[in-house]
Amino acid sequence: MILAPLRGVTIRCFRESFAEALDEYGFTEAVTPFITANAGVDPLKDRELRGVSPGESALKITPQFIGKDPAALKYCLERIKGAGFDTADLNCGCPFPMVRNKFRGSGILKTRDVFERMIATGCEVMGEGAFSIKVRLGVEKSDEFLSLISTVNSYPLRFLTVHARTAKQMYEGECDGEAFKAIADAVNVPLVYNGDAFVESGVIRGPNGADDLSKFNLHDVMIGRGFVKSLAFRDDIGELLERYIDSSVKELGSPRPVLGRMKELLAYWKDFSHWTRVWKSAKMAKTLDEFKMCLF
Ligand SMILES: Cc1cc2nc3c(=O)[nH]c(=O)nc-3n(C[C@H](O)[C@H](O)[C@H](O)COP(=O)(O)O)c2cc1C
Repeated sequence: MILAPLRGVTIRCFRESFAEALDEYGFTEAVTPFITANAGVDPLKDRELRGVSPGESALKITPQFIGKDPAALKYCLERIKGAGFDTADLNCGCPFPMVRNKFRGSGILKTRDVFERMIATGCEVMGEGAFSIKVRLGVEKSDEFLSLISTVNSYPLRFLTVHARTAKQMYEGECDGEAFKAIADAVNVPLVYNGDAFVESGVIRGPNGADDLSKFNLHDVMIGRGFVKSLAFRDDIGELLERYIDSSVKELGSPRPVLGRMKELLAYWKDFSHWTRVWKSAKMAKTLDEFKMCLF
């Protein structure tokens, strides 16, 4: 299983702090939250990659990029390849209007020519079977991506991840299994399912707990929020959280910016009994010390 990129959540410090939990859940790889591929920006200076030696952790790390400039992507990929990363991913799914209206993220699905040039660049620089893309079913409609399948099929992609929602749905509403199936039937590169999946007693389940993801002939499954939510039920969560807080303070240099990071994580647990009470007071905390007092 692949850990989904959740910007601000499944970041490097999180992955390091929760490494055992990730391993127990069954993850072997993580796609990083996106790094902007803009001209003149060195990806190795990004917090996600700075000082990281690929292969030093059990979890394989695949850097993800967002952008629409093939030359800038080429530069970023050459930099990470030189540093030892052997895989990379392109974000073609970010749904935020400010991003997609500039034809980045899911917006790139609206510009076939740029979409194709970005894939061609990725495959050329990273090599055959080393570059992947992550898409939505479409921007407004769930059959839009289908029209790009012939383009996708003509490149030696490592895999194609499809989050089974449109960009317009953002992160809410039902995943569309029918639309995903239409893509599964048409695609000839390895396919990864994404959207509301989780693991229960060792079994990977799709949206609403369905156990029928196997009908799609998948290469892999990518899970984000399902894992983050599952942490709430661990016996050792207090200890893990403390470790995450300490590492975050070290990373960010002071407690102040850590408070927002921790509140974002805790918000995933607010509907679970014990955490509902904790969340009520923790969300009001004005300092990290106040926040910690609500937890422990
Ligand atoms: C807070 C947040 C941040 C996200 N950041 C990214 C990102 O950086 N790159 C990306 O491709 N997808 C991003 N996503 C989308 C997730 O990777 C994933 O596609 C989506 O959450 C559905 O999968 P899930 O239900 O397993 O979480 C983000 C989603 C959320 C909720």
